[in-house]
Amino acid sequence: MTHDITLEELVHLDNQFVWHPFTQMSDWLTEEPLIIAAGHGNYLEDVQGRRYLDGISSLWVTVHGHQHPDMNRAITDQLSCIAHSTFLGLSNVPAIRLAKELVDITPKSLQKVFYSDNGSTAVEVALKMAFQFWLQSEGQHTSRTRFISFVNGYHGDTIGSVSVGGIDLFHRTYKPLLFESIKVNSPYCYRCHLGKEHPGCQMSCLAEVEEVMAQHHEEVAAIVVEPLVQGAAGMIVFPPGYTRRVRELAARYNILFIADEVATGFGRTGTMFACQLEEIEPDFMAVAKGITGGYLPLAATLATQKVFDAFRGEYKEFRTFFHGHTYTGNPLACAAALANLEIFQAENTLDRLQEKIAFFSSGLQELRELKHVGDIRQLGFMVGVELVDDKDEKEPYPVEAKTAIRVIKEARRRGLIIRPLGDVVVLVPPLSTSLEELDDLLQITFDSIKVVTDI
Ligand SMILES: Cc1ncc(COP(=O)(O)O)c(C=O)c1O
Repeated sequence: MTHDITLEELVHLDNQFVWHPFTQMSDWLTEEPLIIAAGHGNYLEDVQGRRYLDGISSLWVTVHGHQHPDMNRAITDQLSCIAHSTFLGLSNVPAIRLAKELVDITPKSLQKVFYSDNGSTAVEVALKMAFQFWLQSEGQHTSRTRFISFVNGYHGDTIGSVSVGGIDLFHRTYKPLLFESIKVNSPYCYRCHLGKEHPGCQMSCLAEVEEVMAQHHEEVAAIVVEPLVQGAAGMIVFPPGYTRRVRELAARYNILFIADEVATGFGRTGTMFACQLEEIEPDFMAVAKGITGGYLPLAATLATQKVFDAFRGEYKEFRTFFHGHTYTGNPLACAAALANLEIFQAENTLDRLQEKIAFFSSGLQELRELKHVGDIRQLGFMVGVELVDDKDEKEPYPVEAKTAIRVIKEARRRGLIIRPLGDVVVLVPPLSTSLEELDDLLQITFDSIKVVTDI
């Protein structure tokens, strides 16, 4: 019994009424759903009181743990003022304060904050702003209507962000609905499309990016990049310096640079933003996920002063950015985001993270011994363990084997919540995860992979 509803009733109602995201519901309906009732620190608790380590930060959002007292306090304090008032025609205290904080902590090129509610919309906003920027800088006859984006890129599920996405499985179905973007290969070094090896290759794959820019720059509004790591593709970590070179090329060809830091932002990679690891000054930055520490939905698109200025003018000129969501600048979410940033300071989160990242790295080495672990990719607290049928040939498992799905089910039985991306087992623990908890996470992951793949 949980509150006044039994587990059986919950399962029945879930099966009867709910449609889960990214889920084959035929499979879901044959399995007992895991229903979460609470979270404490880095653990989730189901309705039967069983505890699980949250190894995916509730889809890459939880930063300082569940029910952090300062987070809870900030949200309840804000509730006693107001939960929501519109940002269209009005402003509010937490959203103003947060905008200043975001400008302070992001690269200095970024001066203006436009709020929305999730990562997809944050990217949509950047795409529309980039397009309109050129329209209003070069006039109605501008040919800058296209975007360059990466194979294996993921920027969300709305039509604009799917249009610049590059994960065939997720995106091909919607092709007739999408605008065409110019795709370039990303440096997936484990399966290099040029058959080369890093660092010997000297990142020769950058030549393609340059060629595409040289050929198309007059028709391109912006390039969209997940800086340093393509998360949803299975944590494809770019070689050091790659993203910076792309940024430099974009500047050379006068193409706006959109950094999608939805996944990488707020400490995930070991610095506050991945761009800072390579001293990149983008024209736009999309942030979401960790912005509220994983407590409430909020997103922001940061832009340069130059972009902002292109939207100014007389009312009758209609240079306005005609875009806004009902919950834009939601005070409750902004209060949570402010508390999240305060905890970064108060708890020295980023400094303390460095030791944990090193511990994580050395623990992950043990997974390499496993017969079916083909590659392990890590950037900070973003990890992908790619499972393969044949390690020498890098041969993937057949899809129907559902190998990584079986691994995460095994991990769940052992008290760890993780998720697969194809046959990549993804580990993204909250930044607050202790060394001891990391050790458990590594041990359970090791055992689960071994049990499932050793047979
Ligand atoms: C890099 C990146 N951009 C955008 C998104 C979309 O964010 P949301 O699911 O909040 O729409 C994601 C989600 O995983 C992401 O990883």
